[in-house]
Amino acid sequence: VVSKIEVTDDKYKELIDSLPKEERFPPGLRKYQGFWQFQNAIPGVLAMKEDFKPRRDDVIVSSFPKSGTTWLKALTFTIMHRDKYTFSSHPLLKLNPHDCVPYIELHYALRDEQYLETLPSPRVLGMHVPYSLLSDSIKTSTCPIIHICRDPKDVIVSFWHMFKKFDGLMEPLSFKQTYELFCEGRVPTGPVCDHVLEYYTKSLSSPKKILILKYEEMLKDPTNGVVRIANFMGCPFSEEEIKSGLVEKIAEFCSFNELKNFDTKQSEGNIKSYYYRKGIAGDWQNYMTPEMANKLDEITKEKLCDSSFTF
Ligand code: A3P
Repeated sequence: VVSKIEVTDDKYKELIDSLPKEERFPPGLRKYQGFWQFQNAIPGVLAMKEDFKPRRDDVIVSSFPKSGTTWLKALTFTIMHRDKYTFSSHPLLKLNPHDCVPYIELHYALRDEQYLETLPSPRVLGMHVPYSLLSDSIKTSTCPIIHICRDPKDVIVSFWHMFKKFDGLMEPLSFKQTYELFCEGRVPTGPVCDHVLEYYTKSLSSPKKILILKYEEMLKDPTNGVVRIANFMGCPFSEEEIKSGLVEKIAEFCSFNELKNFDTKQSEGNIKSYYYRKGIAGDWQNYMTPEMANKLDEITKEKLCDSSFTF
């Protein structure tokens, strides 16, 4: 969607034209305050920073792309609205999680931000925006931010598969080209380690504001993930809900196989299957030589050397 947006707004055009450019990643990235973005996406990020005011009861889902965003959106939406919808008539049976939990910056980029105001409270909203590019109104608000991260090696593989599917919009990159751009940090909203590290560092000083979830831990123990998300959102499960097995039901309802199954049954939209591929950890082993993996691990280690964070 972002690739189709034209940057015509003079307010941002001059600034964007002055930013460092990366043309190997089609249709072109620009580096703004340390992070690469699709140049067409930058107006949305800037407008969101200037204008977006969260509501007190919003929950914001944040991630580097291809880190498990769709899954986290499904989980937060289902947990938040568990009294409102039954599993048999749930919106996720018909709608993609990205329709239920819209991206804030995308609606700003499309100049359709009013749509966000039409959503009833409590809202769950998504974003791929680095922490340092958020407005003070988000940073100082009480609304919680849940950030999901994933082993960068698997992020690359997932990224490559998704961008291959953007037929006609961009020249498909080879896996090696994608890998090299990742190693240089020249990918949308990258470098990935800087993106995650900003949220992680902030979560240490503001543990009630930011929760960091790891994709791999969520895969190992999804029910524990569901409980952590509900507690963090301020809507913990009651004794009765726990006894009734609701936690396990939500984990199952939002599992890869279930969401993928709902997706194939949905009749609308052409973004289907971009978001569900394998849903496992460690698929990088099928794409990278040990040397490629080691090089990336070294880059990651170096980036994280001053932090207690590990992927
Ligand atoms: P793979 O391409 O490795 O399979 P995002 O939602 O941030 O775009 O991330 C997409 C990745 O999350 C894809 O990874 C996708 O298969 C995986 N995914 C989507 N739904 C999932 C779920 N319910 N459980 C686990 N992984 C899921």
